Amino acid sequence: MPISEEFIQELKIRTDIVDVISSYVNLKKVGRNMVGLCPFHNEKTPSFNVSEENGFFHCFGCGAGGDVITFIKRAENLDYVDAVKFLAQKAGMSMPEDYGDRGITNLKNRIYEANREAARFYHKQLYTPNGERALEYLRKRNLSEKTIIHFGLGYSPQSRYELVNYLRNKGFTAQELIQANLAKQSQRGYAFDRFSDRVMFPIMDLRGNVIAFGGRVMSDIKPKYLNTSDTPVFNKSRNLFALGFAKKKSFGTLILVEGYMDVIALHQAGIENAVATLGTALTQEQAMLMKKYCETVAVCYDSDDAGRKATERAIPILRDAGLKIKILNVPDGKDPDEYIRTHGEQGPARFRMLLDKSGNDVDFRLGDLRKKYDTDITEQRVEYLTEASRIIAELDSSIEQDAYLSQLSEELGAEKSAIKNQMLRFMQKNTRKDRIKRQREIQDSMLARYDKVNSEKFYNLRAANAEETLIALVMLHPDVADKIFLNVRPNQFVTSFNRKVYEILKKHSENGGNFTLTDISGEFSNDEISQIAKILAAHPRENDPDRTAKDCLLVLEEENDKMTPEEIAQADTTTLMKKLQKLKEKKK
Ligand code: UTP
Ligand code: MN
Repeated sequence: MPISEEFIQELKIRTDIVDVISSYVNLKKVGRNMVGLCPFHNEKTPSFNVSEENGFFHCFGCGAGGDVITFIKRAENLDYVDAVKFLAQKAGMSMPEDYGDRGITNLKNRIYEANREAARFYHKQLYTPNGERALEYLRKRNLSEKTIIHFGLGYSPQSRYELVNYLRNKGFTAQELIQANLAKQSQRGYAFDRFSDRVMFPIMDLRGNVIAFGGRVMSDIKPKYLNTSDTPVFNKSRNLFALGFAKKKSFGTLILVEGYMDVIALHQAGIENAVATLGTALTQEQAMLMKKYCETVAVCYDSDDAGRKATERAIPILRDAGLKIKILNVPDGKDPDEYIRTHGEQGPARFRMLLDKSGNDVDFRLGDLRKKYDTDITEQRVEYLTEASRIIAELDSSIEQDAYLSQLSEELGAEKSAIKNQMLRFMQKNTRKDRIKRQREIQDSMLARYDKVNSEKFYNLRAANAEETLIALVMLHPDVADKIFLNVRPNQFVTSFNRKVYEILKKHSENGGNFTLTDISGEFSNDEISQIAKILAAHPRENDPDRTAKDCLLVLEEENDKMTPEEIAQADTTTLMKKLQKLKEKKK
């Protein structure tokens, strides 16, 4: 059962969105809105708006937006129910007994329990005859008993039924195990173990719940690692391996490595601030998550080609999150785990030295650039210096800039003042305003082309704009909403995301409820709510909502009458002529 509408209403009345957001963001009044620096991306000029009147926030920079519940979901990294709890506590309200979507909360708890039991089961397997090989494997990779226990490593037996049978005996249903992605469903409909004959690495969230597993083969079979797919408790782009341990030992710096084994080897070596992504490239969400626990991220990816590429991609993501970056280069094409292992007792100390010596991302980029040019050739030398001064121009500190200029001038025997002039020219071009404007332009064009939430919008721009206006009208002018619901049918909406929003608004209205962002936010994901907030932010209240609604309906009728290119190709002449005639009449 969802949290009751009355409860949310009451919570909303007692919660002032500006108050809540003010404890995260310094807000200033600008026009009718409050404006500040967006907490969800790194920016220097404020594009984060809060509308007290309408109860929502929206960032024109990164697109984040929603109501106060969405804000808390994102700022505190909570799910919907926990965000409501959080706000209720602030507002001095106690949660109703039957709070929450019982179904989903229960399922999540069952998955946590199943995962915990599975982790125990896998771990115990190491000490059975079945798991002997796995234990041997871990020992060969230099892991101590203590480390194996600390990380709760384990072994998934070859037989495809052991875990399923074990957990079913403990009362878990096949369905629960499938939802947890611990089991898969066979074609005949029964559940069998997802992981078989692999060394198991439990993945934990910050509260210590087991949320997923990575499983490594002990041979050369592909894929080397199998990871839990996303489940109701696990999203691979929002978690980091070992962050729960690392956050306590970060002292301002986290080390980002590629693999589970790298993290474990580093922790065992006493370098306990290492984390890893979970089998995918670094995401913005993971960068923001790290930002909560450190100021600097030392990227220490493998030194092969793939690793360098991954480093290049990680740099702007980390920088956008407002993190300082160091690039740590492990010599001889080794990964951190191998490096520590090959240096035996000295391994940990040597790795620490690498860390101390590691440069910032400018070093990395200059190094990369350097390789592209043969500086014995004058032309290439000039080009290298030009490109290098472009990179140096991006640095905020003039002391740092000066150091790099000196280094470059020594390295290439070029006049320092000449390089400096070049850099200054780039800096002028880069004046902050320009940079922001350029970023905006890129963002805008990307947004239009690739709307993540409403992917059909790009091809149905006219219809989608009318749909969005209708959605905004309904939400901002409840007095005309009924009339709109009466006259515009959901199936007249062309894009499915907007149709879904409209349907849900309509449903709420038919049930006699309200339909502000807060009332409907339980039915949408964060991204979807952001999208709706963006729609609201882009549509101020109308003077003549009735008339605007009529215009929109007309657009939708026209757009619905348009045939798709495929339909046109297939239609016979009479149908086509009829259609054309109809369109002409409408235009009159
Ligand atoms: P690596 O191949 O570098 O793994 O992949 P590793 O941790 O160093 O493992 P060892 O030393 O060979 O045992 C880096 C990470 O990429 C993900 C895993 O998260 C792994 O830790 N990965 C790799 C997968 O998810 N699937 C794969 O098939 C391979
Ligand atoms: Mn490795």
